[in-house]
Amino acid sequence: MSDRKANLILPNGEASIDFPIHSGTIGPDAVDIRALLGKTGKVTYDPGFLSTASCRSAITYIDGDEGVLLYRGYPIEQLAKNCDFLEVCHLLLNGELPNSEEKTRFDSKVMRHTMVHDQINNFFRGFRRDAHPMAILVGTVGALSAFYHDSLDLDNPSHREISQFRLIAKIPTLAAMAYKYSVGQPFVYPDNELSYSANFMRMLFSVPAEEYKVNDTLARALDRIFILHADHEQNASTSTVRLAGSSGANPFACIAAGIACLWGPAHGGANEACLDMLEEIGDVSRVGEYIKKAKDKNSGFRLMGFGHRVYKNYDPRAKLMRETCHEVLGELGLENDRLFKLAMELERIALEDDYFVEKKLYPNVDFYSGIVQRAMGIPTNMFTCIFALARTVGWIAQWNEMISDSEQKIGRPRQLYVGEGLRDVKSIQQR
Ligand code: CMC
Repeated sequence: MSDRKANLILPNGEASIDFPIHSGTIGPDAVDIRALLGKTGKVTYDPGFLSTASCRSAITYIDGDEGVLLYRGYPIEQLAKNCDFLEVCHLLLNGELPNSEEKTRFDSKVMRHTMVHDQINNFFRGFRRDAHPMAILVGTVGALSAFYHDSLDLDNPSHREISQFRLIAKIPTLAAMAYKYSVGQPFVYPDNELSYSANFMRMLFSVPAEEYKVNDTLARALDRIFILHADHEQNASTSTVRLAGSSGANPFACIAAGIACLWGPAHGGANEACLDMLEEIGDVSRVGEYIKKAKDKNSGFRLMGFGHRVYKNYDPRAKLMRETCHEVLGELGLENDRLFKLAMELERIALEDDYFVEKKLYPNVDFYSGIVQRAMGIPTNMFTCIFALARTVGWIAQWNEMISDSEQKIGRPRQLYVGEGLRDVKSIQQR
């Protein structure tokens, strides 16, 4: 806390009021306006939270102008190159990277919870085979809360801890089951001897009739996708998880709410929408036409995988994903892949175009992650599930931070009411 104050002078001789200014470790200062309503009877108006810090957080930091992303102070580039996903999970949840002993303990704790209750299989049978895997994931993750009555006391740290391990461990199993169900193949049980990413690939792609060997390059690429999507401070789905959790809802219900929010095409659904867009463009010769359409407000069309609420510079995750994209396509001999070439051309033209330059619209992580996943054989409608799988750890870390925060209150925004004034109900004959 500092002694610095921001002074608000209200018009017409109303009061002049001081509000404290708080400084974070890095990033913009925050004017603490919690007392505004009480002191002035007025509220702030900030739809979309463009200028509102909803909480204090020590987990993730983004500098959108510089293209910087830090998890617990570590640059994403260093984490992506030197750590695996479970090390990053340990970091996000506990604040520090694990040493080798801690890593062994943490990994085995996660991997010991990978199986889901056998009754969960029955939920799947209720879904249509063509149900979107995100619809299945929202439902089944929410349903997990029905299985753990004994450990849902939010005030009990050991209950919160076991729930976090269950969620991180079971979400790949549920996501893989959603996929297997959609293609009519039997569910594949987890193999806890494999790494987190290799196990997920095996649950997705193996069938009982054949031996399956995990390709290390592809498992590493998937692990990187997980690391890059693990957390992203107070984005829409994370804020949803915090808001749901602020009422005391159980963690499984909160994560299901986060998954629902992530599904939207402006958020996690963008990687699927981006691939659909590339398919629709179809050929390099049509890139110009689509760039023109994206610049035309009346078309309602946006270049998917471009732009970001916070990054007004190249998304650092996109740079790493671009690198992985080359690695994966090289490994699979797909360097001349039609959609990849199309994506490169689209990126080149957009980065030179005044409209995109002036509005600082750069490719975001989803621009490349869809191409990587498609090359790995992951179907388009699974992309957002994979994002949800990776983001689960971030959601849990943020949820846990919120529960432990002494300033935490139920999230309850105010509004600027613009509806009818007070009026009387007329009898039905008079209306
Ligand atoms: N294509 C064309 N124009 C765009 C685009 C785009 N992809 N994105 C923004 N604009 C324009 C927009 O029309 C607006 O123009 P104007 O100022 O003339 O009205 C200006 O740029 C600012 O856009 P905005 O919608 O006010 O910006 P925002 O911060 O509210 O939205 C966004 C950010 C990510 C929702 C938006 O850029 C978008 O819809 N991008 C496409 C979807 C996408 O790729 N989403 C993935 C985000 S990264 C993954 C994640 O973290 O979830």
